Amino acid sequence: MTETDEKALCASVTDAHAVDPLSEHTDDEEVDEEPDITHTTSEGEDDYPHAGHIVIKNGPAKSKAAMASLEAALHAGLGLAAVTAFMTDVFGGYVDEVGYRTSGHRCIDTRDRREALQKGSSLLYGEVLTTGVVSMMDRQHLCAAHSRTLYDLGMGTGKLALQTWLQFPNLERVVGIELAHSRYLIAERSLIGIAHNFPTIFALVSFKHGEYICLRFRSGKPRYIEFRRCDLFDITPEEQQDMEVVVLQTDIPESLFCQLCRFLNRFCQGTRFLTYLDMCTVWEAMPTAPFPLCRFAPNSRFDTSWSSKDLGHRFFLWRKLHPRGCWVEELGLFESKQVESGVHSSRRKGKGVSKLRAFFSRGFRRADKLARCYPASE
Ligand SMILES: C[S@@+](CC[C@H](N)C(=O)[O-])C[C@H]1O[C@@H](n2cnc3c(N)ncnc32)[C@H](O)[C@@H]1O
Repeated sequence: MTETDEKALCASVTDAHAVDPLSEHTDDEEVDEEPDITHTTSEGEDDYPHAGHIVIKNGPAKSKAAMASLEAALHAGLGLAAVTAFMTDVFGGYVDEVGYRTSGHRCIDTRDRREALQKGSSLLYGEVLTTGVVSMMDRQHLCAAHSRTLYDLGMGTGKLALQTWLQFPNLERVVGIELAHSRYLIAERSLIGIAHNFPTIFALVSFKHGEYICLRFRSGKPRYIEFRRCDLFDITPEEQQDMEVVVLQTDIPESLFCQLCRFLNRFCQGTRFLTYLDMCTVWEAMPTAPFPLCRFAPNSRFDTSWSSKDLGHRFFLWRKLHPRGCWVEELGLFESKQVESGVHSSRRKGKGVSKLRAFFSRGFRRADKLARCYPASE
């Protein structure tokens, strides 16, 4: 898209709408066509999109030409300016928020806190800004342009997931997972708003209020965006096999490190992912499991809502080395069949004993953690 096209698109996206926060919609399972959305005006005290608001704009009264040009641009993938304009509209202005009082911070309620406490999860929040997402997804980093699927595990209000879906037409499936209800609801509303505003371009595939929502492009090759309200650790190993790019810009407490390591170990060989935590440190909780990741693009920094604008925040980028279930074949070790249920065993081939001893020495020193990793109940 040329710069002029981009400017025209930004103008058409912005001109086409005016903010009109809505509330209340019907719960509908497995919707095939347009969602049945009941529009009522909300009188909440805050103007950010918390529970009870749906940030969608005026009805779908846009000129055919504007819709056609938007559709063409969407199929080609939006540039930064256009995607920012589009998302600013969809999120009612709440894009590229900075500081510690963003809508994703303020929406948190007692239900979110209670559930996070029960699960031992962290609600720590911050967003990657639109410019940060562009760099994060470029060729030197997660290389979204050469991927089919992208998962945002801990998507918050879903902005990063939506931005990548709108920018990379090669992405057939973008999935966002979020534990906190109130953050999920903001994300859910953004997709409802899109389906409502652009009914000729997008169709709602499935929707259960507060649980999941899936949207697709009506024309062109099948492309889906899906948001789910659940714990990232509930994702099945089968689904993990389909993850090509993963964003794990999520704080995982130490008590869940072993669960996290086992989770990451189930990624396919070659999966590229970004973490907020340094996985080298996290992996110390896995005394007997060799490190299956290769770090790339060290010192990568991206613009975030909490970092200084010039510096960005430092993240960790990884590529999964070993295929699922293979720890260290070259050392003569085989993963036990029981490993998925949390019990490791190894078989030595006779060679490389000293290598092996050195390899596990760190683990033996951390034997105390083993019990925590693999409790008897697993
Ligand atoms: C730092 S925010 C990241 C937002 C977004 N991915 C981004 O990069 O802009 C991390 C999110 O992960 C969510 N989270 C934490 N633990 C989780 C879990 N176990 N399952 C799903 N989401 C989780 C938090 O509620 C929070 O919204």
